[in-house]
Amino acid sequence: MTKYEALHKLKDDMEKDDSLPLKKGAGKLVFGSGNTEAKILLCGEGPGRQEDLQGLPFVGQAGKLLDKLLLLAGLERKEVFVTNVVHHRPPENRDPLPEEITSYGKYLDQIINILNPKVIITLGRFSMAKFLPNVFISQVHGKKHDIIWKDKKIIVFPMYHPAASLRNGNILRQEQKDFLQLKDTLYIMGLVK
Ligand code: URA
Repeated sequence: MTKYEALHKLKDDMEKDDSLPLKKGAGKLVFGSGNTEAKILLCGEGPGRQEDLQGLPFVGQAGKLLDKLLLLAGLERKEVFVTNVVHHRPPENRDPLPEEITSYGKYLDQIINILNPKVIITLGRFSMAKFLPNVFISQVHGKKHDIIWKDKKIIVFPMYHPAASLRNGNILRQEQKDFLQLKDTLYIMGLVK
């Protein structure tokens, strides 16, 4: 089975799973989208209003900013795969609860397993905490972290959530610097030209 086929099968399984805690109040499942052969996975927090309507991650205002940030790192959206820690919209866009992150985490783990990315770019603290527990985003943002995750070597770059940058100009400037620096590291790794 190709990665594309495996991810589609996983999405079908997820759509049928009525035990997912946010399913009842949400619109569409936002499984993830992008290049299923990508070496770089981006992981955000959870769908907002636009994502819930369209069933696609980062298609609202934060997504427009994300596209610009990716360009600073020499990346286009079509070259990466994008998903979230929870795949249904939390009511009123509230933060996902720990038990919700655990429930959706079973699927996120499988997405990572199938995709087998070299690099994971986390967007915001909920996604960061999955791979880098017990750190503060204000201290580690933009820095390269080599981790072993489920017996696999993965490089994690924790980034601020683009929605935080939309609210705060200082965070935006910092995040732009972080993505520009990311380009240098990805270039050395042969992941961007
Ligand atoms: N914010 C997220 O964290 N994920 C999305 O898909 C959209 C906005």
